[in-house]
Amino acid sequence: MERAVVRLTLFGLLVSLAASQPKKEDRDIYSFHINSTVTSRYATTIITSRVVNRMDESKEIEFHVQIPKNAFISKFTMLIDGQVYDGVVKTKEQAQQQYTAAVSRGQSAGIVSSVGRTMEEFKTSVTVAAHKKVTFKLTYEELLKRTHGKYELQIHARPMQPVKDFKVDVYIHEKAGISFIDVKGGLSTKALANAITKTHADKQAWVYFYPTEDQQKTCDSCGEQGMNGDLVIVYDVNRNNGLGDIKTSDGYFVHHFAPSSLPRIPKNVVFVIDQSGSMHGRKMQQTRTALIHILNDLAEDDFFGLLSFNSDIFHWKRELVQATSLNLEGAKKFAQNIIESGATDINAAVLEGARMLNSHPREGETNLENIHSNVRQAIAGKFPLYCLGFGFDVNFAFLEKMSLRNSGVARRIYDDSDADLQLKGFYEEVATPLLTDVEMIYGGGTNLTQTNFSQYYNGSEIVVAGEIIDNNIETFRPQVLAISRKRKVTFVNTHGSVDSSAGTVADGLLQRVWAYLTVKQLLEKELLVSGPEKEKVKSETLELSLKYSFVTPLTSMVVTKPQGENTDVLHKPKEGEGAGHTKYLLLYTLSSFFNGISSLISQ
Ligand SMILES: *[C@@H]1O[C@H](CO)[C@@H](O)[C@H](O)[C@H]1NC(C)=O
Ligand SMILES: *[C@@H]1O[C@H](CO)[C@@H](O)[C@H](O)[C@H]1NC(C)=O
Ligand SMILES: *[C@@H]1O[C@H](CO)[C@@H](O)[C@H](O)[C@H]1NC(C)=O
Ligand SMILES: *[C@@H]1O[C@H](CO)[C@@H](O)[C@H](O)[C@H]1NC(C)=O
Repeated sequence: MERAVVRLTLFGLLVSLAASQPKKEDRDIYSFHINSTVTSRYATTIITSRVVNRMDESKEIEFHVQIPKNAFISKFTMLIDGQVYDGVVKTKEQAQQQYTAAVSRGQSAGIVSSVGRTMEEFKTSVTVAAHKKVTFKLTYEELLKRTHGKYELQIHARPMQPVKDFKVDVYIHEKAGISFIDVKGGLSTKALANAITKTHADKQAWVYFYPTEDQQKTCDSCGEQGMNGDLVIVYDVNRNNGLGDIKTSDGYFVHHFAPSSLPRIPKNVVFVIDQSGSMHGRKMQQTRTALIHILNDLAEDDFFGLLSFNSDIFHWKRELVQATSLNLEGAKKFAQNIIESGATDINAAVLEGARMLNSHPREGETNLENIHSNVRQAIAGKFPLYCLGFGFDVNFAFLEKMSLRNSGVARRIYDDSDADLQLKGFYEEVATPLLTDVEMIYGGGTNLTQTNFSQYYNGSEIVVAGEIIDNNIETFRPQVLAISRKRKVTFVNTHGSVDSSAGTVADGLLQRVWAYLTVKQLLEKELLVSGPEKEKVKSETLELSLKYSFVTPLTSMVVTKPQGENTDVLHKPKEGEGAGHTKYLLLYTLSSFFNGISSLISQ
C-alpha cells in the first residue's frame, strides 16, 4: 500500500508593487549584445552594452539590466577610454567598508538590486567624458532547473532605447541530444517574431534574435524607448530512462537523473484552504478556481481530504476518501461555497491536516517558533512539506525554513491575475511522484552535492555534482537506489565505467557547476542550522563564493571606477527580505511504502 500524502493550504493577501519608471537619459547605445551559452543545462550569459556620450560635456551614463533571480553574477567590467575596470567580489563586510569610506569622502552611491517576479536588477553608472565611449560587460551564471518537463532560459531585454546593433545569441549544447526547442516570451510575438532564427541539430541548437530598430519600436511592450520584455528559450533533452546523463571533465562530474517511464505513485492529499477575511476578493476566487482544477486532476486511485479554516476549521469530510467522480463532485461543491471571513489560525489548520493522516493534533499556537516545532513533530520526517507564499505580505523566510526542515520547498505565489495558474502550476510540479527515497551513490566520487532525495516527481530532475577521486574515471561507479511504485529499483550503467566528456565541455565548466550547486545548497542549509554549525556553513559558502567570484547573499561586488567617482556595491537581495507576517502557505506531504520486490534498471 504505497501512498503519497499531499496536504495543501492556500492563503492570500494583497500588496501591490509599483514599478519604478526609469528616467530618460542623454546617451546613445550603439551596440547591445546578449550572448548565452548553455552546456549541460549550465547557462553563462554575457551582456555587453557599448555607449557613446554624444554631448559636448561629460555625462553620467547608466547601465541597467535584469538577470534571473536564480543566477549568480560572476563578472562585471567597464572599459573606458582604453582602461579596464573590473568589479571585485568581496565579503559583505569588506565591501561595506569600502562603500562607507567612499560615502565619508562625500561619494555616496550604492546599488541594491530590486526583486521582481523572476528577475533581479543590476544597475550602475559611470561618468564619461565628452564624445568618449564606455563598454559595460556583465556575466552571470545559472543552472537551469527542469520543471514541467522543460528547461527555461529567460533573457530580459530593455536597453531603454532602440539600438542599431542589437543581438541576442543563444547557443545550447547537450550531450544527450535536444528533444525540442521553442522560443516564447513577449519579445517572440507579433512584429518581432520574424527577427528570430532557430536552428536545431541533435545535440546543438542556436537561437538568434536580431530585431531592426523599427521592429524594436513596434512590439507589444515596445515603444519610443525600444524593447522591454523577455525572450524565453524553452527546451528539453532526450532521456534514456536509465541512469541518465553523466558528464565528466577535469576531475569533476555532473549527473542529471530524470527517468520518466515509471508508474506514478498514488497519493493521499489533504487540501487545507485559508478562508479568513484576508483572502477577500480575487484571492479567494483564484484559490477556489485553482482548487477545482486540481481536484479535476486527481487520479481515481488517489485519496483526498478537504478542509477550510479561519479561526475555526470546516471539514468537508473528517477522513480521507477515494477520488471517485462522485466524491470529487461533492468536494467541488464544497470548494465553490468557501467564503472568506474571520481571522486566521494557520497552526490549527496545519495540524488538523496532519491529524487526518497521523493523529498528532496540537492546539492554538501563534508563536512562529512553536509552529515550527509543532509542525515538525506532527510530520516527523514522514513526508515533505511544501510551502507556498501568496503575495508580498508573507514572511517568506519563515515558510522557507518550515519547508526545508521538512524536506520540501517554499514557493512564492504572486498576487496577480494569474495566481490560480501559479497555484495549479506549483501543484502540478509535485503531482506525479515516480520515486521515493532516492539515494544517489558514487563509488570513486568525493565532495558530493546533496545525494539523498525523499522523492522524485515526473517532469523534474535530480542533479548531483562532485569530484572524481584522483580523476580516475575507470573506478568511478555511479548508481541510483530508489523505491518505485511496488518495488525497490537500482539504476546502473551496464558499460561499467562512464565515458569521459573531455573535449565536449569547456575547461573548468563542470567545476563551476559543482561550485554553483554547492553554494546554493549551503545557502539553504544555513537557514536551518544555528550556533557554531551555522558559522561553519557560512564560512564554507563564503570561501566558495569568493573563489568562484559569485555574488551571493554573503558576498558583494565592488564596482571599480575611475578615480574620484562614486563607489557602487552590488548586493544580491534575499528572497522576501523585509516581508511582514506569515499568512499563506501550501503544504504538500508524501509518504511511501514498498513491498520488497526489487528490480534493476540499466542502460
Ligand atoms: C558568445 O560567447 C561564447 C563563449 O564565450 C563565444 O564562444 C561566442 O563566440 C560568443 N558569441 C558571440 C556571437 O559573441
Ligand atoms: C511522465 O512524463 C512523461 C513525459 O511528459 C509522460 O510521457 C509520462 O506519461 C508521465 N508519467 C506519468 C506516470 O504520468
Ligand atoms: C574535497 O574533499 C577533500 C577531502 O576528500 C578535501 O581535502 C578538499 O578540500 C575538498 N575540495 C574542496 C574544493 O572542497
Ligand atoms: C542517504 O540515505 C542512506 C539510506 O537511508 C543513508 O544510509 C545515508 O547515510 C544517507 N546519506 C546522507 C549523506 O545523508
